Amino acid sequence: MTDSSPAPEPDRFAGLPKLLPQVSHAPYSPDVSPTQAAQQYYDIMAQRRSVRFFADTPVPQETIEWIVRTAGTAPSGAHKQPWRFVCVSDPALKCEIRTAAEDEEREFYGRRASRRWLEDLSPLGTDSNKPFIEIAPWIIVVFALARTDDGGQVYYREESVGIACGMLISAIHCAGLVTLTHTPSPMKFLQRVLHRPDHERAFLVLPVGYPAETCTVPELHRKPLEEIMVVNRPAGGAADRAADGGVGGSER
Ligand SMILES: Cc1cc2nc3c(=O)[nH]c(=O)nc-3n(C[C@H](O)[C@H](O)[C@H](O)COP(=O)(O)O)c2cc1C
Repeated sequence: MTDSSPAPEPDRFAGLPKLLPQVSHAPYSPDVSPTQAAQQYYDIMAQRRSVRFFADTPVPQETIEWIVRTAGTAPSGAHKQPWRFVCVSDPALKCEIRTAAEDEEREFYGRRASRRWLEDLSPLGTDSNKPFIEIAPWIIVVFALARTDDGGQVYYREESVGIACGMLISAIHCAGLVTLTHTPSPMKFLQRVLHRPDHERAFLVLPVGYPAETCTVPELHRKPLEEIMVVNRPAGGAADRAADGGVGGSER
């Protein structure tokens, strides 16, 4: 007599421990409201300043890598990620960058800058000397890609790289480090000094490190909210005038 009952299924859990550890669950609700969280982030970012006096205290490469990873999370037109972050710690290379940058800066302050521009810069006390390029342990040179590495189109390059730089600056600040948004102009020399390919255009130079013990920053005023934020639209625009019966309003 043959047995027609089906063969027993293999025990798929045979290899697992018989008693799985029990993970207890607790109620979860973030205890910070978006307004509180936004305010806390503001409190952190309001402390950020452009620093021009650096200590030579080393910063591990791993820290810089996390900072650059954060910048790499930025949004970009059609997700083309048109950026490259060249991170320089080699003293000889930093010296070469400083020399070339100061050549450009001497041209700028001595000849190219308009009187108005120099007047606007004078409260900051900047000049053509850029010792921080050598003193800061890292220099991040941000390049914008005119096309992708495989020759493809990029979209909204300036906007995308600008946003990534903002996130880079925030990440540097949140890491407890300082930076300066530096724009030696023109920056073409950086492509040559750093051996970058033709489709990479230098965008910003950011020294990164700790502030010098004697570091000071200009006492600046930031515009209050009322000056920088508009909710909906001001009264009295074209749409309001139309609703009032045309330009100049109706005579009643
Ligand atoms: C696009 C850009 C270019 C800048 N270029 C320079 C520069 O070449 N040298 C410099 O000392 N500061 C430079 N700055 C820094 C500004 O002077 C600084 O952000 C401004 O004075 C406000 O100070 P804060 O950053 O401490 O709030 C630049 C800032 C931006 C956004």
